[in-house]
Amino acid sequence: MDSPNALPPIERVLFTAEEIDARIGEVAARISADFAGRELKLVAVLKGSVFFLTALARRITAPLRVDFLAISHFTNQPGAPGVVRIAKDLDDAIEGEHVLLVEDIVDTGFTTGYLMQNLAGRGPASLGICTLLDRTSRRIAPIPINYSCFEIPDRFVVGWGLDYKQLYRNLDCIAVIRPE
Ligand code: IMP
Ligand code: MG
Repeated sequence: MDSPNALPPIERVLFTAEEIDARIGEVAARISADFAGRELKLVAVLKGSVFFLTALARRITAPLRVDFLAISHFTNQPGAPGVVRIAKDLDDAIEGEHVLLVEDIVDTGFTTGYLMQNLAGRGPASLGICTLLDRTSRRIAPIPINYSCFEIPDRFVVGWGLDYKQLYRNLDCIAVIRPE
């Protein structure tokens, strides 16, 4: 249990817990102002975006609901232009509602692009994107991002919901991990 191998193979911390907390506070303040007096629904994708969603939601002052969906990729490789399919749908309709899709990371943009197209077809009053991380250097599908916490370099990162083989989602910093 105390084996050093149990520690995540962190190469470099990009953002500390304090920095992330402060930045989420800023973004939540903007969302609160933009949606003042309106009801908002945060939609998150299982499992990665849940960590960010709960932190963000606690800092937003507009009345809000949350809902979740799960997707599966037909390829296991992140960033590969695989087909995305909804494995678990939202519990409730979003017609006529103000919806923000909450993402852990927008990388190539394929996943977010597919989800936005799918959600837009359900007739929300408005639909936007709020992402914890944005890696614009790898973007293939153009994605209009309304709220972004951090831009990151072209390195694989973990923490705050982002995993490597389902591990390290619970790290409270965003870190680059050493290649195996
Ligand atoms: P897309 O390339 O924008 O479609 O992103 C697909 C998915 O790949 C994201 O939702 C993440 O789950 C995953 N992903 C992309 N980059 C990273 C990373 O650096 N660490 C962990 N997961 C990642
Ligand atoms: Mg993942």
